[in-house]
Amino acid sequence: MSVKSQIIQINSLSDERGSLSVIESNKQIPFEIRRVFYIFSTKENIRRGFHAHYKTRQALVSVSGTCKVFLDNTIRKEEVILDSPNKVLILEPNDWHEMYDFSDDCVLLVLASEHYDSNDYIRDYDEFVSVYGNKQYLLL
Ligand code: TYD
Repeated sequence: MSVKSQIIQINSLSDERGSLSVIESNKQIPFEIRRVFYIFSTKENIRRGFHAHYKTRQALVSVSGTCKVFLDNTIRKEEVILDSPNKVLILEPNDWHEMYDFSDDCVLLVLASEHYDSNDYIRDYDEFVSVYGNKQYLLL
């Protein structure tokens, strides 16, 4: 874990036909991908997320359009703008996250390290702080 959020810049393979970007498990991102989902057609002024996890790690990339992600790991609060199909934001389990300011054309791709399990979600902010607060030593 690190104090700064981890943003990975991937290369795209571009030629006269256009561009292609690749993300593979344990290569461009530091975990095995077990689940893929994507968020699109997001309505105006919508904010999603509002949770952290116990176990799941995620990689977020806006493959089309732009959106913003608010991150809070109880020590740092940060806003990251996802505005390129080559910019990948790694979310650790202890990153409380909220996504917002979706452009109309935004397709937010999420690669997750675990299968879907509603029990892996921490949706209550006070519970999040009680689970992950006072664990600053993990980040040193
Ligand atoms: P939700 O967690 O509310 O989305 P967000 O975190 O962006 O606010 O998910 C919306 C619905 O989709 C909810 O009923 C749970 C379901 N869902 C799955 O069934 N599988 C999944 O992998 C995900 C991410 C969500």
